[in-house]
Amino acid sequence: MFIDTHCHLSIEDYEDIETILEDNRKEGVSPIIISGCTKETIIESLQYGNLYSDAFVTIGYHPSEADITTDEDLFLLEEKLKLNKVVGIGEIGLDYHYGKENKDKQIELFEKQLAIAEKYHLPVVIHSRDATFDTIDCLKKYSVSGVIHCFSGSLETAKEYIKMGFFLGIGGVITFKNSNLADTVTKIPLDSIVLETDSPYLTPVPYRGEKNSSKYIPFIAEKIANCKNVSLKQVAEITTSNAKYIFHLD
Ligand code: NI
Repeated sequence: MFIDTHCHLSIEDYEDIETILEDNRKEGVSPIIISGCTKETIIESLQYGNLYSDAFVTIGYHPSEADITTDEDLFLLEEKLKLNKVVGIGEIGLDYHYGKENKDKQIELFEKQLAIAEKYHLPVVIHSRDATFDTIDCLKKYSVSGVIHCFSGSLETAKEYIKMGFFLGIGGVITFKNSNLADTVTKIPLDSIVLETDSPYLTPVPYRGEKNSSKYIPFIAEKIANCKNVSLKQVAEITTSNAKYIFHLD
């Protein structure tokens, strides 16, 4: 059994969620954790969490929402965290890939949500793109742990996050030929890894270029098994137990 710890199932990308969940289960991928990270997708994700027993939810405001998120939105987020399928806050973080113009606003939104996570003892799912230094700086101010979503940094950065008590979310990028991630994964313990697709993005080889799906998780797990020289079953067992531990599932 595999857990997809991070996917986006917006109605804009996926119309027939029931078929998707059925296909996932056939491939042994269940439960999944849906990330709602805008006002609209937070509502959608919570609806799916209500409807399907093997869909859990993390909610939080993505750094792309930094300019439009108000204190009232944060208050509403805090209220929704109390709903029963919500297992964490995310994805939240910093993204300087398209520029740093609103860096201060991003940091402010990120830190406010880290404070909420600390208050409710909830795990966080971190989005960090071209912003490793500031991300680590913010995280160190709060007593939180969770997952570094879509990790693709250096071995040094991986070790730093692990030392801070974080798990690394490994996705389709590990199957890409032009990525060093496979090499990094050979050198970090399986005990610090969880699986994720980040659907609809970052589809693993051999389906790279198509729309991603949680049912492709076994391709990511297979690549990790090769890197670590262990069986696919071991990758499934350890990453599933890691995910259950972090998000307090079952
Ligand atoms: Ni994501």
